[in-house]
Amino acid sequence: MSLRVFVPCETTALSLGAEDVATLISREAAARGLKIELVRNGSRGLFWLEPLVEVDDGTGRRAFGPVEPGDVASLLDSHFGDDHPLALGPTDELPWLKKQQRVTFARLGVTDPVSLDDYRATGGFDGLHHALELTPQQLVDRVKASGLRGRGGAAFPTGIKWQTVLDAAGAQKYIVCNADEGDSGTFADRLVMECDPYMLIEGMIIAGLAVGATQGYIYLREEYPLAHRHLDLAIARAEAAGYLGNNIQNSGRAFALEVRLGAGAYICGEETSLLESLEGKRGMVRAKPPLPAIEGLFGLPTVVNNVLSLAAVPSILRDGPEHYAGFGVERSRGTLPFQLAGNIAQGGLVELAFGHSLRELIEDFGGGSASGRPVRAVQVGGPLGAYLSPAQFDTALDYEAFSAIGAVLGHGGVVVFDDSVDMAEQARFSMEFCVEESCGKCTPCRIGSTRGVEVIDRIMRGENRDANMALLEDLCDTMIQGSLCAMGGMTPFPVKSAYTLFPEDFQRQGGEA
Ligand SMILES: Cc1cc2nc3c(=O)[nH]c(=O)nc-3n(C[C@H](O)[C@H](O)[C@H](O)COP(=O)(O)O)c2cc1C
Ligand code: SF4
Repeated sequence: MSLRVFVPCETTALSLGAEDVATLISREAAARGLKIELVRNGSRGLFWLEPLVEVDDGTGRRAFGPVEPGDVASLLDSHFGDDHPLALGPTDELPWLKKQQRVTFARLGVTDPVSLDDYRATGGFDGLHHALELTPQQLVDRVKASGLRGRGGAAFPTGIKWQTVLDAAGAQKYIVCNADEGDSGTFADRLVMECDPYMLIEGMIIAGLAVGATQGYIYLREEYPLAHRHLDLAIARAEAAGYLGNNIQNSGRAFALEVRLGAGAYICGEETSLLESLEGKRGMVRAKPPLPAIEGLFGLPTVVNNVLSLAAVPSILRDGPEHYAGFGVERSRGTLPFQLAGNIAQGGLVELAFGHSLRELIEDFGGGSASGRPVRAVQVGGPLGAYLSPAQFDTALDYEAFSAIGAVLGHGGVVVFDDSVDMAEQARFSMEFCVEESCGKCTPCRIGSTRGVEVIDRIMRGENRDANMALLEDLCDTMIQGSLCAMGGMTPFPVKSAYTLFPEDFQRQGGEA
């Protein structure tokens, strides 16, 4: 057997030189008369080791990384030997991977993302075949039994959302996948779409069968061109193979799927704004009720689910809901792919069952800060998530435990800051972000965030500090209570946590204490 060499074709790896590495491997192998099969796989999610090259001589995959173009000749000279300085040993034995519980991401980096054969050979479409034997209600019941909750942010039970759409009357129903992935430090949706697009397609087809929807849309942020290419290619191949279209696997059931591009507004990740945008209008938040499940896209019953929620569905159908529910704690069942970003030594994707601690994530997986300085703060759950201090790092990673400390897990983004961070600046940034991204529909958010920036500026200059702190607190409460959606309603979370946990950063200038 010829040597199989895997070089990732995913965005992070490409940005770190994977294309040049792949070209050079082919060239240098040919120059040496060495027969290799070059496979462009997805990323394993170990970003600090990208480009992570793997080889398989028939005895299992071994990893080398990070491989730069200048390393290629010596790698080939050593015949990808275990004594090469970049040798990391068998990929599956890498502690960072081995300690994870990869369920949704089990295929990540293993396969060629757009190969239908690879997908089928690794359990792909088994869930769909099973789903085709079940009634819509049985499908919804399976998802309910898995305990899956929405991974887009609000953690609403997916099965209950599907039940509402199944029960709603409508000549046409829709499945809309929220692939806007606007949260800071997040990339798990992108990894699904770039590295395992058929999994999302399969999840959406199953969702369609469950609620009686025959049309799906993936609302994808424009900033993900590679995800777009892989999705379009995978949709075309799935269609040609009879997984999409008017007669799914000769079942007589139909489901069609298209990608629609968003134009880069954070608020278009909010489900009702997303629907407006999908209808060709400006992305403005709709008042709820009616829920999108009852009156969604074009006023018809619509499931809006995050990429990760839909991507979890194929394995729930294939391995059974009990298997998925067997991971996690209390009401947080299954796994969450955490995304380690910011000032972190070992950034990347860590899929874990709920219940591990934040400390494990930051210290064991992340290896502390990239700068080597002490970690001072972590923001979990995107730009609307609270900041946490090291005293809270033993908090269990589950929805309820986070809610109990005024924080959110959201989409699983974890952004790390070392002790050079100025938390007053971060609080100001949260308000400023809201100024930029507010849809402008309601006053507490549109005006409140602008006033918030001004008040924090005054506090940072030391002007009437006590009075301005009281004003900031009042303003935060008004935004929480008076905003129409979570954009204005949650922007105060990072602000409040910053001044509560790091008060010294709000007292640095002169003025009253
Ligand atoms: C300001 C704002 C931005 C959001 N951005 C996203 C996003 O980028 N992706 C996402 O899936 N959900 C996002 N959400 C949550 C969605 O409104 C919605 O809850 C989610 O798509 C539902 O899917 P799920 O039940 O699978 O989580 C956002 C919410 C708000 C308020
Ligand atoms: S809270 Fe902000 S983003 Fe949400 S509806 Fe009001 S103005 Fe729009």
